Amino acid sequence: MSNLLERERAFQAQKDRFVTRALELLGYPSLGHVPDVRQRKPVALLPVLIGDYRKMTEQELDQLARAYSGELGIAHFLILNPDDQSDSRHPLLALANQLSDRLPLKYPVDHPMEGHPEAVSRFGSADGTLKIYDLETKDGSNGYREQAETSEMFDAHNDGLGYAGAVEAFMLYADSVPLAGGYTYFQNVVLLSLLLAREDPEAFESLFLPDAITALRPRGKGAIRVSTPVLFLNEQENPQAFLRLPTGEYQISWRKGNSALDRAAKLLNSHAEPFSPGSSFIHMDRKGAGCISRNHWVVHGRTPFIDGAQPSDHRVLARKWFMCAPQHAHYKHVPGMHIHHDYASLFPERFGPELLDGDWHYDPETNENVRKS
Ligand SMILES: [Fe+2]
Repeated sequence: MSNLLERERAFQAQKDRFVTRALELLGYPSLGHVPDVRQRKPVALLPVLIGDYRKMTEQELDQLARAYSGELGIAHFLILNPDDQSDSRHPLLALANQLSDRLPLKYPVDHPMEGHPEAVSRFGSADGTLKIYDLETKDGSNGYREQAETSEMFDAHNDGLGYAGAVEAFMLYADSVPLAGGYTYFQNVVLLSLLLAREDPEAFESLFLPDAITALRPRGKGAIRVSTPVLFLNEQENPQAFLRLPTGEYQISWRKGNSALDRAAKLLNSHAEPFSPGSSFIHMDRKGAGCISRNHWVVHGRTPFIDGAQPSDHRVLARKWFMCAPQHAHYKHVPGMHIHHDYASLFPERFGPELLDGDWHYDPETNENVRKS
């Protein structure tokens, strides 16, 4: 099958399996049962209170699992005894252990920046989590920083650009909190897309184009360009979404010349704004607050915040990523995407095995991703 148009049509045919599986996972008998979240006001989520993070009750575990698997795809918690000692290296990891038979939290990945000398000098020895904080607050330097390392707005995205979509879930936990601001907001892109499937099938189908969206991080350690469908069936035959809004160093472009895709982009982008209809948000305003996010389905962003003069008034989040399969629980930095073999095999030049492994970097000189190792 050499003709590009034919290949794209065959690739987009995954949309039917996507719908069937998404409905099944959400528990809706048909597309007609999908709630119109565009009519819903944003939801300020209340946390599941966790009395003792070292020994969670069945009820606490169930509430978190239900929230994660529900329409919003996000479980918010507040640990009431964050300072009590335990055998775990971090309370977040204690939660993940106790939830791992109910939620996809079995395969944590160690991020290369965990235990980074700067983080260790500020927060002590590595505890198995990545620290996310405003790097500027210490010395006022204006050196290059990732967007997560600022106190600025960080628009909606899925975590893990460069990991080929393997980050299925992530957890955040407030080690300390800022003086003000720093709301984290969420939108379930898979649920939203099912409305398109019902009302504008052509726009829905366009989201399965193999190069529907391109995210470019042009510089720094994480320089990479990733072109991917916005919706696809992943290696585990589950629906998955990839969406980003331009923010900080990230440049986002959509495939041009397709009015159906323009309509789809408009709907998704507008609903990925903070506090948009159908979204949810949390405020991690106390040590021990945190969340578990369904990263394959849900995009998230963060509003700006203000740190105080004292380190105890700085926003420091502990983060952990959890991968969708044990073979993906390692560092990689690649331009491809883990798409179901039936469809990935139609575009080996985009989603073949060599594009899913190793350490690649985008080279602005040649405008190409280059494999380094
Ligand atoms: Fe993020």
